[in-house]
Amino acid sequence: MPQNVMVTDDTPTRVRDGTGIHAIRQIVSHSDALIKELRDIAFDANAAKQLQRRYTITQVAEMIGRSANSIRKVEASGALPMPKLSERGRRTGYTLAEVNGIREHFGVIRGRQPGEEPIRMAFQNFKGGVGKSTLCTHFSQYLVERGHRVLVIDCDSQASTTTTFGLRPDLDLGTKDTLLPFFDGSKTSLDYAIRETYWDRLHIIPSNLSLYSAEYELAATAGQSGPGWIGRLHEGISTIQENYDVVIMDPPPALGMISLNVVRSANALIIPTPPAMYDFHSTVTFFRMMEEVLGSVEKAVGHPLNYKFLKLLISKYDTGKSAQEFMVRMMGEHYARHILNAAVKDSAEIDNAAADWRTVYELQKHTTSAKTYRRCIVSLNAVFREIEMLIRGTWPSHQERLEAEGYMVL
Ligand SMILES: Nc1ncnc2c1ncn2[C@@H]1O[C@H](COP(=O)(O)OP(=O)(O)OP(=O)(O)O)[C@@H](O)[C@H]1O
Ligand SMILES: [Mg+2]
Repeated sequence: MPQNVMVTDDTPTRVRDGTGIHAIRQIVSHSDALIKELRDIAFDANAAKQLQRRYTITQVAEMIGRSANSIRKVEASGALPMPKLSERGRRTGYTLAEVNGIREHFGVIRGRQPGEEPIRMAFQNFKGGVGKSTLCTHFSQYLVERGHRVLVIDCDSQASTTTTFGLRPDLDLGTKDTLLPFFDGSKTSLDYAIRETYWDRLHIIPSNLSLYSAEYELAATAGQSGPGWIGRLHEGISTIQENYDVVIMDPPPALGMISLNVVRSANALIIPTPPAMYDFHSTVTFFRMMEEVLGSVEKAVGHPLNYKFLKLLISKYDTGKSAQEFMVRMMGEHYARHILNAAVKDSAEIDNAAADWRTVYELQKHTTSAKTYRRCIVSLNAVFREIEMLIRGTWPSHQERLEAEGYMVL
């Protein structure tokens, strides 16, 4: 029992001063100090986050689907810059921006063609801690590495995605840098909020705690005429989506005004759920709520909402636990085509990277063992490849190529 709650036989539970708002204030202040200390350990306060990752010529050749020799030839001809060399005269590898330069030279286009609709997607579940933000940061990086142009929109005032991209929500950002000025009507395009990241062609609209007031801001206009409030994010994304192939929103873990806006503006949804009984029950509740919510959203916008794809995804799968294995098998049987084939395994590499506000794609080397690291990357890539195929399947210019690659476009 907590020390300052006294229970005796003849008195009701007595709660001393210091267990109400006063205690919460103290805890908040301790938390702020703790967060600051943890972040200072993880972040070099003076150095902007950079991507150390370099790609070898063999990797680049694989990424763009050409031979290493053809790249060397173009470099030798002067049509592409010669690769940088170390002091010992060895190739140091290509940055992602350089890889994209090579892609442009060879005309290797991964993204959509003009006129095709960008994908606006979210890893959505009203339950917390199922891996939404982890999937959002990792998938956005996977996609840019594959050659897509990506915008991440942090819609969660907890701002974990923002922090992973190297921004300190309470120090580097103000209210004006988040979605809020668009939500309150003081901006008419989302342009103002877009920032580049240290990943080439990956941009972010960051968030911080102040975004929480958007819940009230939107609720205040909800009573007014028209479906305006529910479509604010949709309108905002429409002002900037032409520059991107994929826009990924990271929603908060609750059914509120912002989550409803995410549901409304997405044209594709992935629902992550760990294969554990409690999480699964919450996910079922999520679907029941979604059924009702979609009904009201459709009424508000005046037309049906059809997602280009909507799939369950098993996340944080601990393959060592037989109960989880059983659950995965059952889910596969019952949900059939509504569930992705690949699952994200629970991995210490993800947890360790997260402790440093990194993704596993940003790690210089493994934090556990080479085997665990490889298993983690293989598991993530398999899931992301499947989602990427779903995305490309929505673009007519890709359909023929996908069929040639052996995929069935439904
Ligand atoms: N596959 C995984 N393996 C190991 N740890 C994971 C995995 N996915 C997520 N985690 C960890 O679980 C925790 C919750 O993940 P995350 O923040 O991505 O969930 P979330 O759904 O975005 O949570 P919230 O609802 O609070 O926004 C984090 O500490 C994260 O590092
Ligand atoms: Mg999150």
